[in-house]
Amino acid sequence: MAILRSLSGRLLVLTIIFVMLAEVFIFVPSVARFRAEYLQNRLQMAQIASLALLATPDDMVSPDLEKELLANAEVYAIALRRDEVRELVLMGDLPGPVEQSFDLRDAGALQLIRDAFECAMAPPGRVIRVIGEPTNNAGLAIEVTLNEKRLKHEMIAYGWRIFQLSLVISLFAAVLVFFAVRRFVVRPITGVIGAMTAFSEDPSDPKRVIRPSSRVGEVADAERALAHMQTDVLNALKQKAHLASLGEAVSKISHDLRNILAASQLMADRLEASKDPIVSRTGPKLIGTLDRAIRLCERTLAYGKAEEPPPERRRVALRAFVDEVAEAVGLANGGAVAFENAAPSDLYADADPEQLHRALSNLLRNAAEAIAASGRGGRIRVSARHLGDGVEIEIADDGPGLPTAAIKHLFKPFKGGARREGSGLGLAIAHELIRAHGGALELASTSTEGSVFRIVLPDAT
Ligand SMILES: Nc1ncnc2c1ncn2[C@@H]1O[C@H](COP(=O)(O)OP(=O)(O)OP(=O)(O)O)[C@@H](O)[C@H]1O
Ligand SMILES: [Mg+2]
Repeated sequence: MAILRSLSGRLLVLTIIFVMLAEVFIFVPSVARFRAEYLQNRLQMAQIASLALLATPDDMVSPDLEKELLANAEVYAIALRRDEVRELVLMGDLPGPVEQSFDLRDAGALQLIRDAFECAMAPPGRVIRVIGEPTNNAGLAIEVTLNEKRLKHEMIAYGWRIFQLSLVISLFAAVLVFFAVRRFVVRPITGVIGAMTAFSEDPSDPKRVIRPSSRVGEVADAERALAHMQTDVLNALKQKAHLASLGEAVSKISHDLRNILAASQLMADRLEASKDPIVSRTGPKLIGTLDRAIRLCERTLAYGKAEEPPPERRRVALRAFVDEVAEAVGLANGGAVAFENAAPSDLYADADPEQLHRALSNLLRNAAEAIAASGRGGRIRVSARHLGDGVEIEIADDGPGLPTAAIKHLFKPFKGGARREGSGLGLAIAHELIRAHGGALELASTSTEGSVFRIVLPDAT
């Protein structure tokens, strides 16, 4: 049945079972008490009947009166022991032998329960003897013999009434639980599930984010957590869409830039033939730079991802390499910024020249830009040394130091940029390229006196 599989249905059935179980603890002792009280009543009636004997000189009454007294007390025989010697006895006809005796004087609760159970199970109409204590100190003990039939009948009727009452109570409680669970648990949960389904059908629709409304603590928590998660998903989707369009834009730019650069390379080719020595010397360098730009575009297009392709390592003579990068960045010609290349000429790095070129030029350009922005002149010094199985390169400047925002988001794309015209990508790119070599790029120091970036570049193993 479907209702039994639902939460409220199960709680309905469980409540009935639990209340009925609890009722057993009330039912059993109260039936036992009912029986004990019934017998106690009989003993009291018998005690009153036997006291009639006191009015006679020899503790004897006429047989007719005796019969009537016994009938009134609804017993077969009564014996009231007044003291050690005197006993008042009323004796009628016994329909059979006494089958069981019960002493109420020292019966504990468990004993009473056992006796009541025995009474319920016994064949009807047993003759039993009951011994009890007389009320009002009327004697030492009172004993009656009676038929159990009526006791059994009344006891079972009483038990049946209690059972019916328990059933009504448990049904009532269960129905209340059923509706309470529907109202406070099932309905809010269904609401949350509905919101989840609606959202999953179109996670990019902000209107489908659940608006927490439940007043039930746990459900409200669930709703808030869901709303939080849905907002996160929504933002992630937005970001993803943004990145996808950015990726597409990068591909388009790379594609057409490559064509434009190829065209300018053709023109630069002609510079070599120039009679002017300066122009003819610049020609090959221009071609080299354009070549690098074209290769970058091609690799970006070929790789098609935001990450860089794995480095293609070669032996790079560092001193000459640093000079080349400085020249490409425009540091070599002597300007407001003095440049010093302190790399030893016999030092080699094991690196992808394209990538190392990009990393170094980003660092040199940053340093030059920082110095230029300070409005004063300055100097940049690149030093390098052998370090274990690799090299360490330091790029030091005496510029104004990194702004706090740049330090906080160091090496994070788009975030660290503090210059208006910068895109905030240079350091992130350099960092990623060096790490792809298994190396590290770090900000060794920065203050108003200047900054030092350090590259550690291990040889390929
Ligand atoms: N040597 C330096 N001295 C002072 N500030 C620096 C230095 N290097 C980097 N910065 C600061 O760090 C910021 C981030 O540099 P990053 O190269 O990542 O981005 P950018 O130079 O702003 O933009 P671009 O992507 O064009 O390089 C810079 O805006 C600059 O404020
Ligand atoms: Mg930069």
